[in-house]
Amino acid sequence: MAFEIKATGRAIPQRRVSNKELAQKIDTSDEWIWSHTGIRARHIASADTAASDLGFEAAWNVLEMAVEQGVCMEKTPEELAHTLDMIVVATTTPDFYGCPSTACLIQNRLHAKNAGAMDVSAACSGFIYGLETAAGILGTGKGRKRCLVIGCEILSRFIDWNDRGTCVLFGDGAGAVLLEKTDATDIRGLLKTILRADGTGSENLIIKKGGSRNAYRAGDVFEFASFIEMNGHAVYNFAVGAVTEIIRDLLKTENISVDELRWIVPHQANARIVQAAAKRLGFPPEKFFLNIEEYANTSSASIPIALDELNRGGYLKKGDMILCVGFGAGLTYGGNLIVW
Ligand code: ACO
Repeated sequence: MAFEIKATGRAIPQRRVSNKELAQKIDTSDEWIWSHTGIRARHIASADTAASDLGFEAAWNVLEMAVEQGVCMEKTPEELAHTLDMIVVATTTPDFYGCPSTACLIQNRLHAKNAGAMDVSAACSGFIYGLETAAGILGTGKGRKRCLVIGCEILSRFIDWNDRGTCVLFGDGAGAVLLEKTDATDIRGLLKTILRADGTGSENLIIKKGGSRNAYRAGDVFEFASFIEMNGHAVYNFAVGAVTEIIRDLLKTENISVDELRWIVPHQANARIVQAAAKRLGFPPEKFFLNIEEYANTSSASIPIALDELNRGGYLKKGDMILCVGFGAGLTYGGNLIVW
């Protein structure tokens, strides 16, 4: 039995906001943002777009690819949607807090009438957690075969656009994959996952307003921020350590050398975090796939967007081994080792 990624997709809002454009509105510069983060632009969704809209678009993109490439017997995305057993959505910015889940909204629009649907809340590690959750669900259910794993975010709506310390870092987007349980007996698909958390750092990256701790009430005066607050230095130090630890541990437990990896696909939060981890590990920086320049940090969407870019760009072939590594609010971190 194997859990293979059969198709990928993404949805990126059209509106591109460059560093230069941001610098016209707040006290920052293209030079500062680029040199401190590796970001040149981010894409921002229109006011009437919610996370499920981008998630649906990315999901549809996946189904279209699966049909076009003939990786399934079904002849249309609609038919393929009917065969889905589960939809797992990773998001920090759901359409609604609490309920309904964003996964259910996407399930409805896909007419995936045979699928269960659930959200995973692990911030920027959400896709890493989601993939393992999906494999677990497929693995334990006898008749289950197919699951969509989606990361979708509208971070622009949870950002204080006057706070130059955070607003330059984030963007909107969605990425998705089709995970299928197959009879493959050779080494293929999702090989190994590590999931970890360190809740002692929960205050370092937090949206304080809106949950059961500080609920919204009619006529509310905002005592707490309803957008992302971040201790940048603490998150930076945590992130470099987390990326290093996960890569080291995944390679060690599976007895794999870095030369056997085709790509390391890190969560795209800051190019400097990735460069620092590469240096600590003594790995060539070219092993790490980076697209943060164009999209900034799209949280749970960043890894599936990167996978789709690699896949559609022809940078992945069957048998390639890749390592995805993520970290985020919680604090959470983890990684998936995958044979394409
Ligand atoms: N433009 C210009 N100047 C700025 C900006 C900006 N956008 N932001 C901060 N500065 C200034 C600061 O005010 C400070 O000025 P001062 O020295 O006069 O006080 C100076 O630049 C240096 O600020 P630092 O905060 O020390 O900058 P640093 O090099 O640490 O970079 C950064 C800050 C980019 C936020 C970094 O700490 C970082 O990347 N942290 C991790 C963030 C992250 O990855 N978050 C997401 C995690 S994933 C998730 O779950 C969402």
